[in-house]
Amino acid sequence: MTEGYVERNRDTWDGWAAGFAERDRARWATDEPRWGTWGVPERDLHLLADVEDLDAVELGCGTAYVSAWLARRGARPVGLDNSPNQLASARRFQNELGPRFPLVHGDAEHAPFADASFDLAISEYGAAIWCDPYAWIPEAARILRPGGRLVFLGHSVLAMLCSPLGDEVLPVEAELIRPHHGMHRFDWSDATEFQIAHGEMIRLLRSSGFEVEDLLELQAPEDGTTTVDWVTLEWARRFPTDEVWKARKL
Ligand SMILES: C[S@@+](CC[C@H](N)C(=O)[O-])C[C@H]1O[C@@H](n2cnc3c(N)ncnc32)[C@H](O)[C@@H]1O
Repeated sequence: MTEGYVERNRDTWDGWAAGFAERDRARWATDEPRWGTWGVPERDLHLLADVEDLDAVELGCGTAYVSAWLARRGARPVGLDNSPNQLASARRFQNELGPRFPLVHGDAEHAPFADASFDLAISEYGAAIWCDPYAWIPEAARILRPGGRLVFLGHSVLAMLCSPLGDEVLPVEAELIRPHHGMHRFDWSDATEFQIAHGEMIRLLRSSGFEVEDLLELQAPEDGTTTVDWVTLEWARRFPTDEVWKARKL
């Protein structure tokens, strides 16, 4: 399988959408955003700080609860996603809970926006893991204005390296299983994800026109809970499950 991951991921997400709707309705409704696998509170991360009056795009928005959080903080978000069913949930939540903002169907590797359209591009487990970084990061640079911010959150490198081989979903282990060198594309039975090593990510961000501002490697809170079955709290107290990159377009 060398091509076609964009379509395969779209079909898979169309199939998964109904299963995420209840979880994401609660995220839409809350005034206390939490991030990533373990729900690290916004007060600890400040990913939504200083967004008032910004033109923002969420790349791989899913049900678009992050865009809802942005809109409530005075930003003007646009949610982009490639799954019609995920966008249908987002529209339903807009109608039920508000606020409303544009939702666009499309592929974040070929974002349907003009150059320099946004001040902030954000992704929580959207383009950040489902798109090829060598395609979506230069695309994010294209649609951001000079000085614009890129913030994205996805799996940590360590979580991918410690993930068991094979197709069964098993918890990550306290052992390096997969090779670090050459890590890029992960083909699972139902979907394809991407992850590159930190040095490679720094070079990609810089060659795409970004200055790297931070890399946060998140620790699960002591009493953390999660809805996923591929990582335990014991592991996530010792090792980062999620990482957040912050970069600025030069
Ligand atoms: C896990 S959701 C992200 C939304 C939410 N923040 C969350 O964590 O649930 C992943 C989303 O990425 C979308 N996605 C996958 N590939 C994409 C692509 N090439 N372009 C845009 N969106 C894509 C999927 O359709 C899905 O809605």
